Amino acid sequence: MKVGVPTEIKADEYRVALTPSGVRELMDAGHEVYIQRGAGEGSAIADEDYEAQGAFVVPDADTVFDEATLIVKVKEPQEIEVGRLKAHHTLFTYLHLAPDPQLTRGLVDSGATCIAYETVEDRHGRLPLLAPMSEVAGKIATQAGAFMLEKPLGGRGILLGGVPGVAAANVMVIGGGVVGMNAAFIAIGMEADVFVYDRSLDRLRELDVIFGGRCSTCFASTLEIESRLSEADLVIGAVLVHGARAPHVISREQLELMKDGAVLVDVSIDQGGCFETSRPTTHAEPTFAVDGITHYCVTNMPGAVPITSTYALTNATMPYVVALATRGVHDAIAADPGLRSGLNVAAGQVTYEPVSEATGLSYVEPETALAEVAAA
Ligand SMILES: NC(=O)c1ccc[n+]([C@@H]2O[C@H](COP(=O)([O-])OP(=O)(O)OC[C@H]3O[C@@H](n4cnc5c(N)ncnc54)[C@H](O)[C@@H]3O)[C@@H](O)[C@H]2O)c1
Repeated sequence: MKVGVPTEIKADEYRVALTPSGVRELMDAGHEVYIQRGAGEGSAIADEDYEAQGAFVVPDADTVFDEATLIVKVKEPQEIEVGRLKAHHTLFTYLHLAPDPQLTRGLVDSGATCIAYETVEDRHGRLPLLAPMSEVAGKIATQAGAFMLEKPLGGRGILLGGVPGVAAANVMVIGGGVVGMNAAFIAIGMEADVFVYDRSLDRLRELDVIFGGRCSTCFASTLEIESRLSEADLVIGAVLVHGARAPHVISREQLELMKDGAVLVDVSIDQGGCFETSRPTTHAEPTFAVDGITHYCVTNMPGAVPITSTYALTNATMPYVVALATRGVHDAIAADPGLRSGLNVAAGQVTYEPVSEATGLSYVEPETALAEVAAA
């Protein structure tokens, strides 16, 4: 198969979807790889490094889409990229469609087969292609939050870990999955007082063992969250209901309970945001204030540390890219039920139920849609 990798064009996105190791794996399996010139630059990977493994470096994104059948990306396609997608393409990337009916409609209209990294599951029902970026985003969340608490940046002016004789800051992490656990690890390392909230008692039990008493674990009822807001300096939102729009865990009215200059970091913003007052921001302008509370809502947080993120992401995606290129979508999905969960759009229809429910677009079974692709 011909595999294509365009340069990422989302604002401040420096990751790339394939490293030279990935090119090597694909070449060894008998495929051709087309990389847009400069695609790896942001991650310190030169065109020559790709060429040394046998990739064709091509001048622009149009050539990548013209030559390749399997398009591998990092972030959801921007409008101009949606326009390049044709029915014969398979797109493998993060999509986050539930909060984005316009993008969903664009992909449906393209007729392309679209597999979302964030809904691919492993055999335990976990999210192997979301996890590495959640590890990165969780760690950044605490770093960014600590920075935004500084007075010159509009924060309360409190040091996360305090100093001898002065109390540490209070950090709430809502959602104790991969993001939440990593955010809490860094907050604990910075010596803050940390409280992790989740609705899954099993997950809270796991965290209790993992953290060995170095933070408190709390059930995420509305009242429990509300009653701690007045003490919180930094709140990190990290909830996820697989594939669906994020539930709101802090309402606009509840902001009144918080201290002036406190910071909210909404990592769940890529699924629509888990604070009612959140809206997507970029690395160039990461924050805004509502009622005196700083909101940090960057949708591609790992994009800021591409030298870590590109390798963390591609270590996880590469086996799937090789499987899709070697077996084709239909057989690869038949062989791996977890990859079936990744199929969001095919043959002009939505094939993932939470996206259908969130966007109002009708749902068809993945097998039905793939049979239509095969017949076309
Ligand atoms: N902004 C970014 O750059 C970026 C990067 C990576 C991940 N993310 C996003 O971060 C979010 C979290 O990802 P993850 O990998 O940690 O997911 P995860 O599935 O590992 O964890 C989510 C946790 O949220 C809990 N949860 C669900 N509903 C809840 C509620 N109402 N209250 C409290 N807890 C609740 C679940 O029990 C689970 O433990 C996702 O939306 C993901 O897309 C964003």
